[in-house]
Amino acid sequence: MITELPKSYRGLDRLKVLSVRHWTDRTFSFTCERPISLRFRSGEFAMIGLENGDKPLLRAYSIASPNWAETLEFYSIKVADGPLTSRLQNLAVGDEILIRPKPVGTLVHDALIPGKRLVLFSTGTGIAPFASIIRDPETYDKFEEVILTHTCRDANELDYGKHLAAEIESDELLSEVVGGRLKLISTTTRQQTEQMGRMTDWLRDGRFAAATGAALNAENDRVMICGSLAMLLDHKAICESLGMEEGSNSSPGAFVIEKAFVD
Ligand code: A2P
Repeated sequence: MITELPKSYRGLDRLKVLSVRHWTDRTFSFTCERPISLRFRSGEFAMIGLENGDKPLLRAYSIASPNWAETLEFYSIKVADGPLTSRLQNLAVGDEILIRPKPVGTLVHDALIPGKRLVLFSTGTGIAPFASIIRDPETYDKFEEVILTHTCRDANELDYGKHLAAEIESDELLSEVVGGRLKLISTTTRQQTEQMGRMTDWLRDGRFAAATGAALNAENDRVMICGSLAMLLDHKAICESLGMEEGSNSSPGAFVIEKAFVD
């Protein structure tokens, strides 16, 4: 039952946590109930958090579930001394989180001009908005092919994305919509695995072209980027060197960026 919030918490909803899954020592995901009135575009983020005396503790989090889902999903890092994540990582089923139910963001279809390939570059928990995008049928209406890259330091950090791709494949409806047009490229940069390296290096040395069938190009490709600030800037520079222009909600372009928020 939703009880009344203190006045200082005006505009915030309380949502019950429905499931929690710990993926690694550093990451976890959870789902919570979705208010009927909460609408969002796949790829957007919302302010979520916990009660904290007089003032709620809120941070921006990408919504990892697609816009048609009945529940909201979030994928989070655990920071030992992080004001919010140190507490959020202890969430249990039945607990409540706070949300400001006004999602926004630029990693949305509306901010991109039409193209053939949608390329989603992510590192770490920057995969969260793309977990939403790759489960949205609109993505496959708009693009012939979707490539998601996920780069992390260690192999187990790639599990969330791999699990997601497997889940899409085993979902009767979604797998039909996707029709084999989604490709996940997972790489590590520190732990030795079969596929290693930063995606910026893959783009420069031809490994991206070899793995996907074509080099990144301004004519066919539309790009979304989500990760640390350094990662964003390096990918952005590569897009701009290819003649791509950055897009926004008011002025769509060939690529869009958003920082993976909590770190
Ligand atoms: P690396 O191990 O070479 O730093 P972080 O946890 O620091 O956010 O990093 C997550 C992943 O993103 C790591 O695999 C890291 O590689 C990679 N990364 C960090 N900075 C960049 C960058 N500027 N361009 C591309 N990948 C990056």
